[in-house]
Amino acid sequence: MKARLIPNLDSSAALDAVAVLSPQMEEGRSPDEQVDAWTGGLLADFWARKEFRGKALETVVVHRPTGLEAPRLLLAGVGPEKDLDAAGVRRAAAVAARALKNKGVRRLAVVAPDGLEADLTAQAIVEGVGLTSWEPDVYKTEDRPEGAMEELVVVASGGEEGLRRGLAIAEGRNFARALGNEPGNILTPTELADRARSMAADAGLECEVIEEEQLEQMGCGALLGVAQGSVEPPVMIVLRYEPETTSDADMHLGLVGKAVTFDTGGISIKPSASMDEMKYDMAGGAAMLGAMKAIAALKPSVAVTAVVPSVENMPGAAAQRPGDVVTSMSGKTIEVLNTDAEGRLILADALTHAQRLGCTHLVDAATLTGSVVVALGHERGGVYTNDEEWQAKLLASATTAGEKMWPMPMDDEYKEQLKSPIADLPNIGTRWGGSITAAIFLKQFADPTPWIHLDIAGTAWHDSNKPDIPKGPTGVAVATLVDLALSL
Ligand code: BES
Ligand code: ZN
Ligand code: ZN
Repeated sequence: MKARLIPNLDSSAALDAVAVLSPQMEEGRSPDEQVDAWTGGLLADFWARKEFRGKALETVVVHRPTGLEAPRLLLAGVGPEKDLDAAGVRRAAAVAARALKNKGVRRLAVVAPDGLEADLTAQAIVEGVGLTSWEPDVYKTEDRPEGAMEELVVVASGGEEGLRRGLAIAEGRNFARALGNEPGNILTPTELADRARSMAADAGLECEVIEEEQLEQMGCGALLGVAQGSVEPPVMIVLRYEPETTSDADMHLGLVGKAVTFDTGGISIKPSASMDEMKYDMAGGAAMLGAMKAIAALKPSVAVTAVVPSVENMPGAAAQRPGDVVTSMSGKTIEVLNTDAEGRLILADALTHAQRLGCTHLVDAATLTGSVVVALGHERGGVYTNDEEWQAKLLASATTAGEKMWPMPMDDEYKEQLKSPIADLPNIGTRWGGSITAAIFLKQFADPTPWIHLDIAGTAWHDSNKPDIPKGPTGVAVATLVDLALSL
């Protein structure tokens, strides 16, 4: 999708449609004159017939609008003006684009609402429309609604930088979503590495794929233990971004993402209901790759390295057993009491490797636990840290990016659960507070480096269609991480 900015809609003749993001109309207030003129004076009718009042997610289409050359005009509500935020603008833009795209619209103008900063508004519009460029129906051979939006014109008085950011973030998110959508038989660790390699080549990033033999030499026993039940060899994908000029030469951001291409649970096998969803157990790794794609385009002034450990967790004949003891790259030994708690095992070695590569600040993202879904549902991801100042930066970026997250506790008392009679630590605690004990496990491998862990098990996948995004992978965390990198 191409995107450009124009200050006002002098001519819409070359467009298939114009969408106006409209704030909620108020009783007794005269309608927006310009928009009313475009509709040919229909706003009062819409109000009277309760057809369109500008509530969030509300839309109405006007065919052959008398005040415009474009053949269609769509009004999309953004809700009350006083509550206007970037997330609301993004949602309205996505709803408008989804409605029009399926009706053959390829060239769309979106008229920005007033009230927010120009860059934020333009970014939100491009992100919202850009998200509709990718749909999960990639393997359908019949009845596939064709085509994505080709050209987006944002009508606003400024926001070039926002437009650029919005495009890069939408593309990064769509890259992550496309990976999360792939079935386990197609997206193996080897295939993920191939896709990372070709993305890196296009984006101008350095890419190294560490293969099994080298992982053995490095002593990645925790990762290799998980991989040994599968015929698919494991990999550790490393992507590097070097800034041309640095704002802080001492800062080196490390992005570590869990990429289990399919999680059966291993010998501690999962129940069959919904097991198919475990193809998205690589969403943390996908988010890091998507963020790197956007970072390569937006060129923040800080060094960023992504480390993505990837395995398939299968109960093959050579699979690790509950009770096995493995030695991690850090030297710490782990008693594997449950082979389904595999994400923390591969992340342990990846966190160690990221630090050996010189990362001074770490963020990991992982579909790590069912417990975080019990705690926070599908609305917010859990955030854990060993450094409050570092976490505050990420939470600020999450707010700017419109991604909902929530800081979780890491009190020492929880650590009592992580005691093993035979090794340095077990890979699980009790049934209670499972997302917290998982984070405390990871902390043993991240300390003393400032670190944040994002448990995105509940937010990386939507179980049902939403007005702005279809059922499937969401690409969560990409927007937050890109904002974080740009803010450092
Ligand atoms: N990949 C799962 C976590 C998960 C659950 C992700 C639901 C997305 C949706 C993870 O590897 C896992 O199985 N965790 C176990 C840990 C338990 C054995 C301590 C869990 O959360 O049940
Ligand atoms: Zn698991
Ligand atoms: Zn898993």
